Amino acid sequence: MEPATTILAIETSCDETAAAVVINGTELRSNIVASQIAAHRRFGGVVPEIASRHHMENIVPVVDEALHAAGLSFTDLDAVAVTYGPGLVGALLVGLAYAKSLAYALDKPLIGVHHLLGHIYAGFLQYPRLPLPAVCLVVSGGHTSLVYLESHTRRRILGATRDDAAGEAFDKVARVLGLPYPGGPELEKLAREGNPRAISFPRAWLEEDSLDFSFSGLKSAVINYLHHARQAGMEVNGADVAASFQAAVVEVLVAKAIQAARRFAARSILLAGGVAANGVLRRELAAVAREAGLPVFFPAPDLCTDNAAMIACAAYYQYQRRDFAPLDLNAIPDLPLY
Ligand code: KG4
Ligand code: ZN
Repeated sequence: MEPATTILAIETSCDETAAAVVINGTELRSNIVASQIAAHRRFGGVVPEIASRHHMENIVPVVDEALHAAGLSFTDLDAVAVTYGPGLVGALLVGLAYAKSLAYALDKPLIGVHHLLGHIYAGFLQYPRLPLPAVCLVVSGGHTSLVYLESHTRRRILGATRDDAAGEAFDKVARVLGLPYPGGPELEKLAREGNPRAISFPRAWLEEDSLDFSFSGLKSAVINYLHHARQAGMEVNGADVAASFQAAVVEVLVAKAIQAARRFAARSILLAGGVAANGVLRRELAAVAREAGLPVFFPAPDLCTDNAAMIACAAYYQYQRRDFAPLDLNAIPDLPLY
């Protein structure tokens, strides 16, 4: 039997300071997330400078807690993993500086992980035997992509958003509806009381066969609808707006994910990223995938939003092929996914 591989991962790309310990890519020993939501809420979004300062305050206690909760000490670690992009540069740098210092002090390998690959590997953390090739729909605050996963080393981007990410659209529409940051989960809650067929918002299908997305037109349509209604003195039913907007986003995401899976003969579909925590998206995708005879995998909601367990899992596969980073690894805010 292979000896166990114990990885400590650190994630500070946006507004969560996170550390986790995962053994062999599947055994989750600890998963600590210090959220900064309260600090950013009054600004209605993430303020990069404030995020960096909070990461500075939180990084040492969060890592200590992750080790403590795992019942391990630094010397038990086989590698230190860290997100090095994409994300806010000042936020990424805090996690990177810590991870590099730790790897150097312990004389253990450093593993640099792509944030979106981390989101994808939240799926493999829970379902290591997920059938490949798979199509993964990655829907987060910064990205919306369809990724074809042929193996753990071969993948291809099939489509991506041309403007706003799905989560960004949720957050912006939530804001115009007067909901607090972060808007996605709040909008989902409000939508539960609304009628998804009340307002017919546009669906951007783009060119025939395109697997790209576009959400800025939908966002503008919602803003225009609210503007005209208010100008005309009409009473706006926020829950109907939220439900109708959500239905428009979900319909396009689900249809394109299934289309991609069929076209590329995928054996499964994986949902990933913060918006994957959305219950309506999960339900709709599950229903359509069932009809298409395709198994669909969802990570638990707390593994969909930003966390370090997903980074540790991605790092485990990199560890196995000795894909280590040099100690001068830098933050890359717009790191592309290959
Ligand atoms: O992946 P994530 O935690 O951070 C990024 O890498 O961006 O995703 C955060 C995004 C935010 O836009 C948030 O509003 C959205 O995911 N989100 C949701 C839900 N939970 C989080 N959107 C819709 N419904 C949800 N339940
Ligand atoms: Zn993320």
